[in-house]
Amino acid sequence: MPKINPFNPNYPVNPGMFVGRLNEILRLESYLFQTRSGQPSNFLITGERGIGKSSIMNYLGFVARGEIPVNENEFNFLVIDTDIDQNTTQLGLVKKIELGLEKELGNSEKARKFLSDTWSFLQRLEVSGFRISPADGSKPDETLLERFAYSLAETVERVCSQIQGMELFNAHYNGVLILIDEADNASRALDLGSFFKLLLERLQRRGCDRVMVGLVGLSELRNVLRESHPSSLRLFEHLELGRLTNDEVIQVIDRYIEKANEDNEEQTQINDEARYFLVAFSEGYHHFIQQFGYSAFAADQDDLIDRDDVVQGALGVGGALELIGDRYYRDNFYNKIQKDSYRQVLRIMADNLDDWVSKKNIRAKFKGKDSTLSNAIKALRDRYIILSKEGTRGIYRLQHKGFALWIKFYTTDPSVLETSIEKNSTAESVA
Ligand SMILES: Nc1ncnc2c1ncn2[C@@H]1O[C@H](COP(=O)(O)OP(=O)(O)OP(=O)(O)O)[C@@H](O)[C@H]1O
Ligand SMILES: [Mg+2]
Repeated sequence: MPKINPFNPNYPVNPGMFVGRLNEILRLESYLFQTRSGQPSNFLITGERGIGKSSIMNYLGFVARGEIPVNENEFNFLVIDTDIDQNTTQLGLVKKIELGLEKELGNSEKARKFLSDTWSFLQRLEVSGFRISPADGSKPDETLLERFAYSLAETVERVCSQIQGMELFNAHYNGVLILIDEADNASRALDLGSFFKLLLERLQRRGCDRVMVGLVGLSELRNVLRESHPSSLRLFEHLELGRLTNDEVIQVIDRYIEKANEDNEEQTQINDEARYFLVAFSEGYHHFIQQFGYSAFAADQDDLIDRDDVVQGALGVGGALELIGDRYYRDNFYNKIQKDSYRQVLRIMADNLDDWVSKKNIRAKFKGKDSTLSNAIKALRDRYIILSKEGTRGIYRLQHKGFALWIKFYTTDPSVLETSIEKNSTAESVA
């Protein structure tokens, strides 16, 4: 009988299976606490691909709605969660936020009437065919933002009001939490830094102190905000999600095996060597744990996940490495760079993972002309795949360690890779 595989490499984790990140949750919880007391704290969550950004954002949504109590605090925020892509316009973002409010509040006739009156400017704009598209490069409309701030403040005042007769909606809320995932996608025309700087300052001027904004995205998000408005970064507390420790990885693996044994009649065991190999392949990245774990679980035939299951699941045809590449990195390795010489540079640099490497060291291993190497480095820099060290010439590093690891694993002969993991595991157990 096939078993239900507990690992879930394709989606953010649901809160019931969320493991770890205690410090981050505590910090985010303190921001909710601040905002509930009228001192709004906005935040940025950044990190590499697959590190767990959307998962923690979703988890926070549950905490803020009061569906998960943390530290004896139970919140009751109205949560709007959405995301943006390269085509999202300012009007589009305003509409997404309005839609979020409507979804939460629009279940009584009285509330629907209030929302449609307060946000009527959006309908009028739509009727007049108003559009600010990233492609047409037009300046965002000042009055749009002004009216947006006004309508949002008015709505928030009503949903948080405890004054008799003012409580238009069934519940009164602690405040409104606006969560925006994939915020690094913001186009120049969306002007995300200015958008939120102006919005938050206008809300403050109107005495509206219960709106909290959380932006989530790749590390590039900070540049996106800075380029849009240099001081917008000051408005946000910054949380950079890091990799997990080996112990935390083991905690995740064991939690997922436990889940498999709750869901399946046939029980599954995992031995220490398999755990070690999973730790070595995962390097503390959540999406690696999920994919290597998934593939090892799928490869197992005898209800005991051992080293061979992990290796076969990872390195076999259609295995975890291929799937991770397809999902996250192949585009950078093959599609964005057409030339073999560029890939050669990446392979050489991946030996040092995301540490700084000098051009001299790259040149020592590079097979090809000097000019080809210089062109390759330039092309990789232009595509932000590698970064150059500020203030120094000829020193570079790969931007993302997860990508470096994948290149290293993917381009190493499988038997060599297995032996090197085994050697490390023996060294570690001796130590
Ligand atoms: N705290 C956690 N506990 C267990 N699994 C997690 C946790 N965080 C993330 N994961 C798992 O790791 C994988 C990646 O998570 P997620 O999609 O949240 O990452 P991300 O940083 O948003 O990725 P992307 O950069 O692609 O948007 C998913 O399979 C998810 O289920
Ligand atoms: Mg995500």
